[in-house]
Amino acid sequence: SLRMSANIFWQDCPIGKLDRQKLLNQKGCVVWITGLSGSGKSTLACTVGRDLHSRGKLSYILDGDNLRHGLNKDLGFKAEDRAENIRRVGEVAKLFADAGLICITSLISPYRRDREACRALFSDASFIEIFMNMPLELCEARDPKGLYKLARAGVIKGFTGIDDPYEPPLDSEIEIGLKDGICPPPSEMAGVVVSYLEENGFLH
Ligand code: PPS
Repeated sequence: SLRMSANIFWQDCPIGKLDRQKLLNQKGCVVWITGLSGSGKSTLACTVGRDLHSRGKLSYILDGDNLRHGLNKDLGFKAEDRAENIRRVGEVAKLFADAGLICITSLISPYRRDREACRALFSDASFIEIFMNMPLELCEARDPKGLYKLARAGVIKGFTGIDDPYEPPLDSEIEIGLKDGICPPPSEMAGVVVSYLEENGFLH
């Protein structure tokens, strides 16, 4: 057994990831969606989840906003809090993938370093980064929660894209953006993601 740290031991069970994957007829992985607030991360996550469900594939969504009500309710939006937020979600996503599920995460995850640390938790190609590359102007025009307005007014400090950084991925597996200046429908975006999963052997 692998010694992780002092006096802590790793417990192995006879039934493992491969057995669970066989049972579910799919391969566990993480679909990591990153992008600005209002870029459509949650919508994409839900649409991919629904499409997978209708194909008999088991997925689970970890949504940043939702997790901040529970697991991550002690965290704010300073760089180190965001780093800890991403670290925890990466570890939880790894557990879901180990359970054999297709884990879809929806967090801004603005720092490249934090996302790369999550990627490093996965030895194979089962960390799939999706970059929602939507212009800030579009996200701000949508402003579904009215937060950009508050950020512009200086009521919210350190808002991503306004007075806090967003570092776009340099090597994401999938990039989703405008087509001829308009936003593709969620069904089309989800189709790209599901096709990727299919072509890379995660759905059988
Ligand atoms: S992060 O950066 O990955 O830790 O953020 P995340 O956990 O995804 O949470 C983002 C949502 O929190 C709301 N919110 C803020 N976002 C960015 N910056 C600041 N300062 C901030 N304060 C609150 C916002 O509603 C985000 O929701 P989404 O779903 O991304 O629009």
